[in-house]
Amino acid sequence: MLKHLSKEAEETPLGSQSPPAKRSCPDLQEKQTGRVKKTRPVPQVPWNPKVDLCWHALVRGASDECEPEWCNSEDPLFILYTSGSTGKPKGVLHTISGYMLYTATTFKLVFDHQPDDVYWCTADIGWITGHSYITYGPLANGATSVLFEGLPTYPDVSRMWEIVDKYHVSKFYTAPTAIRLLMKYGKEPVHKYKRESLKVLGTVGEPINPEAWQWYYNVVGEKRCPIVDTFWQTETGGHVLTPLPAATPMKPGSATFPFFGVVPAILNESGEELEGPSEGYLVFKQPWPGVMRTVYGNKQRFETVYFKKFPGYYVTGDGCRRDEDGYYWITGRIDDMLNVSGHLLSTAEVESALVEHEAVAEAAVVGRPHPVKGESLYCFVTLTDGLTFNRTLEADLKRQVREKIGAIATPDFIQNAPGLPKTRSGKIMRRVLRKIACDERDLGDISTLADSSVVDQLFQNRCCPNV
Ligand code: WT7
Repeated sequence: MLKHLSKEAEETPLGSQSPPAKRSCPDLQEKQTGRVKKTRPVPQVPWNPKVDLCWHALVRGASDECEPEWCNSEDPLFILYTSGSTGKPKGVLHTISGYMLYTATTFKLVFDHQPDDVYWCTADIGWITGHSYITYGPLANGATSVLFEGLPTYPDVSRMWEIVDKYHVSKFYTAPTAIRLLMKYGKEPVHKYKRESLKVLGTVGEPINPEAWQWYYNVVGEKRCPIVDTFWQTETGGHVLTPLPAATPMKPGSATFPFFGVVPAILNESGEELEGPSEGYLVFKQPWPGVMRTVYGNKQRFETVYFKKFPGYYVTGDGCRRDEDGYYWITGRIDDMLNVSGHLLSTAEVESALVEHEAVAEAAVVGRPHPVKGESLYCFVTLTDGLTFNRTLEADLKRQVREKIGAIATPDFIQNAPGLPKTRSGKIMRRVLRKIACDERDLGDISTLADSSVVDQLFQNRCCPNV
C-alpha cells in the first residue's frame, strides 16, 4: 500500500493532535470495592464527560427491574466490525429475531444442550463468538455458563482444566490457537485434573490441523467426547458447517456438513457449480435466519463484497474441498486476508496503519505460518528517502499497528525493504513476498516482475530466523 494522505490527514498533520487528557472517571478514584472497579492500580483513562458514564455511579441508583423494549423482528440488534479485504472494516449488521433464533437453535443442537449442562466458551465476548455463543445462544436456552476473563496459561498452563473440574464443565468451546498453545506443554498439565464432566468439545476460528484435533480428542477428551469443528463467520451469525455431536461421524480437520437450512456449493473460477469431490470457492445458495442483513450504512458494499463475484450466491471468501464422502474441508481464505489466532485481519488494514507513520513510504504485509497462531504478520516497509531502519523505528511501528488495530495485529517481523517486488503495472506480488518471509527460494514464475534485483536484496535483508 502506497502512502496516501487523506483530506482529513492533511488537515491534521501527524503528531499535531494534542494527547488525550489523562483524567479518569472520578468514581474510579474511590476505594475499589465494586466488581468493575477492580483494575489495580487505578487506570488513567481519558475521560470525556460528554460521552463517558461511570458504571458505579449509574448502577447505584438503578432499579432491579428492567422493562423489555418491544422491537420488530427485523430491527437492528448489533453491528460488529470485521476486517475487509480492501482495508476499511465493514459494519456487519444483524437483526433481532433471525439472529436470536439461529444462535439459540445452533447452540442447542451443536452442543446438544441439556438442562444440567455447564457450558464454557473461552472466546472474547467482544467478538462474534462471544456474541453468539457466550451471550445470545446460551442465554436464550437458559444455559448455565462459565464466564472467564483471564489467560489459559496463568497462573499455570493447567488453568483451563482446573476450571473444568471446579465448575463441572460439560460443554467446552475454544479455538485451535489455544489448543496448539497448550499442546506445547504436553499431557502432564492436562492430566493434573480429571475432566470427567466433559461431554462435547468445540472448536472455531480457523481450520484445525489434524495434529491439534487428535490432541484435543485423545488427551483433553480422553476419546470420550465428540469434537464439533464449527465453521462460520461474523457474517453468518452462527454455525453453518458443523457436525452434530455423536450423530455425525467425524473426520479430523473437517467441519463436516451444513447445518439445517444451509445449502453450500463449491464453484470454480467461472462460477460453475462443481459436483462430487471437488475444490473451489465455498458459497451458499440460500439465506438462513442468522445471516447478516447489510453492511451498516453501505448497502452497495454489502452487495459487492458478498454477492457480486458470483450472482445468486453468498460468497464466504474461503476456499473449500469436498471429499468423496461429501465432507467439506475449509482450505483457508482466498482473498488478501490473514487469520491470526482465529481473528481475521486484512493485509490492507495493517498496511494503512504502517504507512500512517511518517517514516514509512510504502508497506506490504503477508502471513507467515506460525506454530501457535496459525499465521503471523510479516511486514515489509519502504522508508521515506534518507531515513535509516533501526530497532527504535521497528518497535515504534509495531506499537503503531497495535494501537491502531489491536494487540492481535502486532507484527512479528518488520523488514526494511528498499524496493518491493512489483508487476509492470505496479501491483505488489504478495506471492513472492510470502516466499521471502519463509525463506523459500523457489519463486515459481516471476516473469511479470518489473525489477528482479529487488528480490535478491530482500532475501539478503530477511529479518527473522527460520523456525
Ligand atoms: C473466518 C471467519 C466464526 C467466529 C470466529 C471467526 C475462518 C472460522 C472455522 C473453522 C476453518 C474457520 C474462515 C472464516 N474459520 N471457523 N471451523 N474451520 N476455518 O469469525 O473473524 O468472521 O472469521 O474464520 O476463514 O471465513 P470471523
